[in-house]
Amino acid sequence: MKYSSLMTGKRLKSIDFFYRIIKPILFKLDPEKSHDWGFYFLSRLELLVGKFFAVPSPPLVKPTYVRKLFFNNRIGLAAGLDKNGEYIDALSRFGFGSIEVGTVTPVAQPGNEKPRLFRIENERALINRLGFNNAGMHQVFKNIKKSRWVREKKGVLGVNLGINKTTSLKNAYTDYQKGLLFFWDVADYFVINISSPNTKQVRELQTDKYLEDLVKKISSFQKQQNKQMGTQKPVLYKISPDNNEKNLVEISHVFNKFSVDGVIVTNTTNNHDELNSDLKMAGGLSGAPLEQRALFCLKKIRPLLNRDIAIIASGGIMSKESVEQRIKAGASLVQIYTGLIYEGPKIVSDLLENL
Ligand SMILES: Cc1cc2nc3c(=O)[nH]c(=O)nc-3n(C[C@H](O)[C@H](O)[C@H](O)COP(=O)(O)O)c2cc1C
Repeated sequence: MKYSSLMTGKRLKSIDFFYRIIKPILFKLDPEKSHDWGFYFLSRLELLVGKFFAVPSPPLVKPTYVRKLFFNNRIGLAAGLDKNGEYIDALSRFGFGSIEVGTVTPVAQPGNEKPRLFRIENERALINRLGFNNAGMHQVFKNIKKSRWVREKKGVLGVNLGINKTTSLKNAYTDYQKGLLFFWDVADYFVINISSPNTKQVRELQTDKYLEDLVKKISSFQKQQNKQMGTQKPVLYKISPDNNEKNLVEISHVFNKFSVDGVIVTNTTNNHDELNSDLKMAGGLSGAPLEQRALFCLKKIRPLLNRDIAIIASGGIMSKESVEQRIKAGASLVQIYTGLIYEGPKIVSDLLENL
């Protein structure tokens, strides 16, 4: 059955219609401005007329359990689009089974200098070097608390955690632990972001020098919290697509050793070889040119990981075929970001069709 009809086509069509009108205007603006204004406007509109488009409960299309969490469907929103948890209710209207906010750092920080977000329209790609710009955990927590979708438990909320720019890699654990503690009650799952290409050296946390110690400490804290709070919160790790096969073996070894709950495969890539345009800006590449690299990583790491370690696939997922390939390669769920920017909200229902 068509997802759009399950979801009451009217609401979805209205959002899609609206996006098709504003997209040409937004795409004429600076990418970061259009992101901020677009989602701000959408969230206001949702407050005003959201009820008109509302469906009584979230649509159930291929619902699934992952690490004991119930997902209405397998399409989630990837981190980075709603870094501060400001647009959760508006984004939930698109039909996501899960929404991941962040990356959040303990203290607010402005991120890198602008311009730092670029569109490569003809290749359906983005390059960003935002650098963990976010409002800090106190503000993000307040924003999450305001969300009706979260309060009414209409879907799964992930909180993606990072470290502040001023935090040394040696002390990375302290920042992650602050985030775990702070969001423990509101998050359904956590992501430890060790793969941002834009914050100095964060990706080194994936190497032998840091990974084992970090995962050991986080796992031990998680166990302690699970026990103390009486609530089980899965903790996943987000890895880079720029890991070679040897790195993936080493990373998997650590994840297996500490029986982590899951892995997000992958973040954006620093390798721009797949890009046809001769653009020289630095930053993480996402969208269509990342698709094959992220799929390759997934295929390599799945057999290396214990079976009960869940995988969420991310990276260049913009078509039904891509979703099918990732699920076939062993992902339990998928996440999108760049596809939403290029295709609009209807992409969620399109991806779910005949899944
Ligand atoms: C502008 C932008 C900002 C992002 N910020 C974050 C972030 O803060 N934390 C994170 O874990 N991933 C971040 N990502 C990566 C996405 O979550 C996603 O993993 C990646 O873009 C690949 O998926 P896609 O090709 O569907 O966009 C960001 C991506 C983009 C395009």
